[in-house]
Amino acid sequence: MNSEGCDSGNNDAVPEPQQHSSDGDIICNSISKPKLPKNSMYAQHKYWEERFKTEEGFEWLCCYDDVAEQLAPYLQKSDGNKNRRILVLGCGNSPFSEDLYNAGYRNIVNIDYSSNVIHRMEEKNQDKTSMEWMES
Ligand SMILES: C[S@@+](CC[C@H](N)C(=O)[O-])C[C@H]1O[C@@H](n2cnc3c(N)ncnc32)[C@H](O)[C@@H]1O
Repeated sequence: MNSEGCDSGNNDAVPEPQQHSSDGDIICNSISKPKLPKNSMYAQHKYWEERFKTEEGFEWLCCYDDVAEQLAPYLQKSDGNKNRRILVLGCGNSPFSEDLYNAGYRNIVNIDYSSNVIHRMEEKNQDKTSMEWMES
């Protein structure tokens, strides 16, 4: 697979050059190809560090709201306790952890090996005092 993210909100999309017929009609203007790195790049620490220098946020899998109901029994067990420790490994700059926090989960530890993303996310979420951000 070489496509990024869970929706079409990929702002790296690069439109194909337009082609025109002799009478000026556009022949091919409906397809745009996202500019994506090779899959092997995703295994490189330096790729993530570079990406997180500028990228504000990106969710790769699904939004919290889409899975909140299915996750709840695992995160809260049967007693409805939202204070169990939750590890978000390879958190990136996804809003998933913030959404968890806003849903009442307070004991969240976020880990990523990109120092850029950890610093940025920590700064962005200063108000969420019980949420931890750790560089691995
Ligand atoms: C595909 S992104 C997923 C980000 C986020 N979890 C999401 O679903 O949107 C992968 C993330 O894992 C991090 N990562 C990759 N390898 C890692 C490792 N060995 N240790 C910690 N983080 C890692 C990257 O820096 C990146 O933030």
